[in-house]
Amino acid sequence: MQSALSPGGPEAALLGQLAWVLFIGAALIFVFVMALAAVAVFSRPRAIDGERWIVGGGLVFPVTVLSVLLVYAYRTGASIADVGVPGALQIEVIGRLWWWEVRYRNPDGSQTVLANELRVPVGRPVELFLTSDDVIHSFWLPALAGKLDMIPGHVNRLVFSADRPGIHRGQCAEYCGRQHAFMAFYVIAEDPADFERWLARESRPAVPPSDPFLREGLEAFMRGGCGTCHTIRGTQADGRLGPDLTHIGSRRSLGAGVLDNHVGTIAGWIADTQTIKPGSLMPETRVFSGRELRAVAAYLDSLE
Ligand code: CUA
Repeated sequence: MQSALSPGGPEAALLGQLAWVLFIGAALIFVFVMALAAVAVFSRPRAIDGERWIVGGGLVFPVTVLSVLLVYAYRTGASIADVGVPGALQIEVIGRLWWWEVRYRNPDGSQTVLANELRVPVGRPVELFLTSDDVIHSFWLPALAGKLDMIPGHVNRLVFSADRPGIHRGQCAEYCGRQHAFMAFYVIAEDPADFERWLARESRPAVPPSDPFLREGLEAFMRGGCGTCHTIRGTQADGRLGPDLTHIGSRRSLGAGVLDNHVGTIAGWIADTQTIKPGSLMPETRVFSGRELRAVAAYLDSLE
């Protein structure tokens, strides 16, 4: 769900409430002003006290309404900008052209790196450290966290929590170039036990393939030069330019939300990146034979 009007956590609920208060308040005032306009148009002309209307309707009323709204919106913003929460799960999210690098800060100082997807435990606060590696992006996760800019050389912090399991979509909300519209991500809120199991698995290196076809895929992947840009922990692939692929088979989407993730779309993406996401920094990799392409796709799909 990607909507500020269906909040999945307490911070998003406050933002949702703010949106409704603003919307309903604006609607009531609009109706009131239109009613006054109708009276002015359709009633007989008569003498009115113009000064009272101008001072009351043009000065006192807007100043009062806007002041109350300002205080309310400021207090809502302050209560959800409460960073430095003890016990929060800490995740760095780095905006890239046009995908998201995700780094879990583990208690032992290590990091678990993945891309375009976050998993969070229900009920525990999550503190995001948002920055960018190139241009300004904006992290927008309306159902859980609202929106915050990602600025090169600067870290913005955002705290949210999910109060029930669910899958939420987010996307970049600041125009950042040609594929801005295809810069999406998913946040999966799940039970704490499921989350811990997932994080433990995600932190492990990739399992070396035992199946001969998958081994062929790994060999073709290395021979094709994919490891120059991508990391698969546990193999010699240690590139940093593109997404970490160590557990790519467990992710929901490819190309930051462009395609569902399965063996067919992986093959299509490798062969035809520039048709699927023109301008993407991943070049088309036309070095594989049909069989090699199928083997590489099957190998990547097996990395769960
Ligand atoms: Cu990144 Cu728009």
